[in-house]
Amino acid sequence: MELFLTADDLAKSLRRDVGDGLAGSPKTLPPKWFYDERGSALFEDITRLGEYYPTRREREIIKARADEIAELTGATTLLELGAGSGEKTRLLLTALAGTLRSYVPVDVSGEFLGEAAAAIAADHPDIAVRPVVADYEQHLHLLPTGGRRLIAFLGGTIGNMPPAARIGFLGALRETMGPDDALLLGADLVKEEDRLVRAYDDASGVTAEFNKNVLRVINRELDADFDLDAFEHLSVWNPSDEWVEMRLRSLRDQTVRIGALDLTAEFAAGEEMRTEISAKFRRERMATELGAAGLRLAEFWTDEAGDFSLTLARPL
Ligand code: SAH
Ligand code: AVI
Repeated sequence: MELFLTADDLAKSLRRDVGDGLAGSPKTLPPKWFYDERGSALFEDITRLGEYYPTRREREIIKARADEIAELTGATTLLELGAGSGEKTRLLLTALAGTLRSYVPVDVSGEFLGEAAAAIAADHPDIAVRPVVADYEQHLHLLPTGGRRLIAFLGGTIGNMPPAARIGFLGALRETMGPDDALLLGADLVKEEDRLVRAYDDASGVTAEFNKNVLRVINRELDADFDLDAFEHLSVWNPSDEWVEMRLRSLRDQTVRIGALDLTAEFAAGEEMRTEISAKFRRERMATELGAAGLRLAEFWTDEAGDFSLTLARPL
């Protein structure tokens, strides 16, 4: 497994993110830190929840379009950013069998990535599977180039970046792309508030556990003493920004000590800390943002219900 992120790099950026995030008003934490091995497994549980439609809808689109994607791209390398378990990607690996030589899944969640990549390698002995532990917001320029690359960024994870970071990310990605490369981008679509809010606040409480996992990670890695029972999970639709926010609301006045930062953070009763945004898209916005990054929206597919989108983009 290739490693662009050492344990030391991760420790440093966690310290910086937590220091900055708790100093802000309102307090925030970046979603990257949900995904230790437990968090990655909880996300997999989320993908199977009745309320969480994105994974099912995206799988439906990939199933319907995999052959077309193979024909349109003739990819020799499939590079997948934020790959997670790569479950939906298996459909692409099968459809691309005629041209594909290598699969490069990229993720910050190293152990989970290693296990997922080994399982995929066992099922696809003809493809070289080369997992890379990296941060796609920092290491795009280090990822393998050459051949015809299909860069997949699935699940709607693009929506977890704030707009400015998203624009920067797409521009940086475009910089690494050759004329024959293509981008396959999964993005959730704007829909009724009720369904959006429930997708991030399931009745069985798995998403609440996932949200609080960031506190467990900080307790373990930064010697902190967050009391998980003193925070409540919230899912809120923000109509002006068209994103869902996950928040953690403090249930009482409390002081949290983060030992490794020699820091204390005060939370007032009712104070809400934002832990994730999940932006929802419309076709026009997707085309505009891609265009601003030097990319052309070539195909825009949705599932039958029009819940989720899969875009194929090319360098302009
Ligand atoms: N693509 C999969 C998983 C989505 S979950 C799917 O569609 O189901 C988001 C994934 O992105 C997680 O595996 C997480 O570890 C990874 N991730 C989050 N932030 C990242 C970053 N900055 N760099 C690399 N991977 C990241
Ligand atoms: C990974 N990402 C696309 C998920 C989402 O829907 O924004 C993360 C998630 N957060 C809560 N549930 C799922």
